[in-house]
Amino acid sequence: MLAAEIDAVHQRLWLAVCHYWEPNKIHGHGPDHAMRAYSLGLQLAAAEGADPLVVGAGCYLMDAGLRADIGRAEHIERSLRIASALCEEMPELARVRELLLTAVRYHEAELEFPADLPKEAVCVRDSDTVDRLGFPGIRMTLQYGVWMGRPLCHPTDPLCCERTPELNGFSMDYVRYLETLPPRLLTPLARSIAMEKQDQRELYYGEFLSALRQGLMRDHEDALRLVAVYMQARKGKDRDVLHIS
Ligand SMILES: [Fe+2]
Ligand SMILES: [Fe+2]
Repeated sequence: MLAAEIDAVHQRLWLAVCHYWEPNKIHGHGPDHAMRAYSLGLQLAAAEGADPLVVGAGCYLMDAGLRADIGRAEHIERSLRIASALCEEMPELARVRELLLTAVRYHEAELEFPADLPKEAVCVRDSDTVDRLGFPGIRMTLQYGVWMGRPLCHPTDPLCCERTPELNGFSMDYVRYLETLPPRLLTPLARSIAMEKQDQRELYYGEFLSALRQGLMRDHEDALRLVAVYMQARKGKDRDVLHIS
């Protein structure tokens, strides 16, 4: 397919799925997560020689099954059902149905995957994982913490330096846990972007601690405001428009 034809399919798909993503802003996984993953997915597809039709569609579908009321629980199964239904309606997707469903099924970095995972699925998986890093990843994690009602951070070990992260215990423990994701990346481009994003986490940790010591880091709202300041400051820079904003 020509690039313009692929783009047209993606646009139609987005119109069909954006209503699933929209309510999930409440826990940080709204349309902006889809858009960043999509942009990155197309870059990874070009670098890996993967089919951009499948990769772009996979990025728009992977988290479509998230819900504002129950969050992540069984979202992959719901995303698969949404993807299957759309394959019935869109012949261009029906032709790549199995590949697309595989990409959705294995999109989460923590999931075991088969040795022969197709490169399209690799690209979707790395796109989702890279977007969980750096400022966007911190913001998604904090926002999910608000929604879950998690406390912001441990009272005596706020950045979880001396404990195993309690993922449902504290939002900042989950932020610390995100450091375990880069070794799970499968493509060189995703790994190099993850390296760039490491600085963002270190910067955030430093400012977080300093604000905490001054009594200015009282709740998730303060923590999210700090991320927003950085994300705003980085807007407009070449790669950041794509990966961070
Ligand atoms: Fe997901
Ligand atoms: Fe995701």
